[in-house]
Amino acid sequence: MQYQVSQSSAADVQASCIVVTLDQTGKLSEAASAINSAAKGFLQSRIDAGDISGKLAETLLLPGVTGIGAERVLMVGSGDKPQSVTSAIKILDAIAAATSKLPGRIALDINELANEAVSEAWWAEQTAMAYGRAQYRFTATKPEAEDTPKQAEEILWIGGDVAAELAKGEAIAQGVNYARDLGNLPGNICTPSYLAEQAEALAANDQVETVIIDEDQMEAMGAGAFVSVAKGSIEPGKLIIMKYQGADDPDEAPHIILGKGITFDTGGISLKPGAKMDEMKYDMCGAASVLGAMQAVVALQPKRNIIGMITSAENMPSGHASKPGDVVTSLSGKTIEILNTDAEGRLVLCDALTYGIDNFKPASVVDIATLTGACMAALGGVNSGLFTQDETLANELQVAARYSNDKVWRLPLEDDYQELLDTNFADMANIGGPLAGATTAACFLARFTEGTPWAHLDIAGTAWGGAGKSKGASGRPVPLLVNYLLAK
Ligand code: BES
Ligand code: MN
Ligand code: ZN
Repeated sequence: MQYQVSQSSAADVQASCIVVTLDQTGKLSEAASAINSAAKGFLQSRIDAGDISGKLAETLLLPGVTGIGAERVLMVGSGDKPQSVTSAIKILDAIAAATSKLPGRIALDINELANEAVSEAWWAEQTAMAYGRAQYRFTATKPEAEDTPKQAEEILWIGGDVAAELAKGEAIAQGVNYARDLGNLPGNICTPSYLAEQAEALAANDQVETVIIDEDQMEAMGAGAFVSVAKGSIEPGKLIIMKYQGADDPDEAPHIILGKGITFDTGGISLKPGAKMDEMKYDMCGAASVLGAMQAVVALQPKRNIIGMITSAENMPSGHASKPGDVVTSLSGKTIEILNTDAEGRLVLCDALTYGIDNFKPASVVDIATLTGACMAALGGVNSGLFTQDETLANELQVAARYSNDKVWRLPLEDDYQELLDTNFADMANIGGPLAGATTAACFLARFTEGTPWAHLDIAGTAWGGAGKSKGASGRPVPLLVNYLLAK
């Protein structure tokens, strides 16, 4: 999609469609009034006839309106003013749904909806995000039918100079759709090696250097927790590192984002039940969000050093797999009793955290993981779980989450829960019993991040959703991560 800014008038603009609004009292916006006048009262006549009332996100597409430059007019209800982030996104999704399949150029004259809570720049950025969502198709394993309608090619924003925000929104939208593609790919295609190839491809950009550490190297360096998961599969595990150098000072401490990349989670010897097990192909969505965010970072070139890390393996039952009760030594030297091989995410994450913190001395670390069913039970598909003891990081992530509508809800991470991980047989167990499962998972990771500003995002409920025909990856939390990194 191409994005342009223009100051043309809504009535004159040459486009396949011009989008204007009316509020729920039926009052036309200034731009809509101008079109109504040029079209000799046609818009008003449709309101009077009851075709549209102006309720939030209601749409009416009018083809062949005479007296104006555009071929069609889309009237959109803006509901009750002023707009909030939530209502604004409903409006934009309705606009994108109604116009994304029209040919050529779509002009939007909706900047009158901007207010203190949602600036014109914000609307522009979210417009690009909304078209990204509307135009997403997964075609890797099921190509589109040949008669699939064409997609709109250009968005013309009528209003202020918001070119930078349109470009930012487009970069994030592409990162989101890349993450969705990776998430939706099946486990027999999207393996740890496949994720490593994706990271290598990102290094085509001069500012990115990709390093892949393979399973043998992990074993040699003593990453026993990571290897205890990877060794159960014929697919070799990988620790993937993408270094983006954007700061003027190459030695400036980097910010790390680390994604869980379990490309399929059977549970291992603690085998999962069969129902919905296919969905465990999504257990690499943390990794996908890191790749999506790094792609957007490369497009937007922030002046910061950022390292994207992915810890990737396939969790399988086999003659090589770990067994409940096995004790392994992590890269940190701490020993872990594996009481449940299905709590594998924290095992691959802990060694990656140790590696990243020891080698890169980061200013901050955020990990992103489809870590616990407990977090999904607590927060559903609306909020990702946020765990941190660092108030600055908590605030930065919450601000970015609100701005991008990629929501998080803070859950407890207190030392009082740590004792649930105690065991007689190692420094810690890898599970904490039936209670507070999302918190005990975070407590486990906290033991490997002491002294470093660190936050954990549990995206088990938010990374994918739907069932049957509507099942798919969401691309979350790419918008949150990119906004967080840009604001650093
Ligand atoms: N990948 C799963 C978590 C998960 C399950 C995410 C369902 C989304 C939907 C993770 O590896 C896992 O299996 N966690 C266990 C931990 C338990 C054994 C302590 C869980 O949540 O059941
Ligand atoms: Mn598991
Ligand atoms: Zn898992």
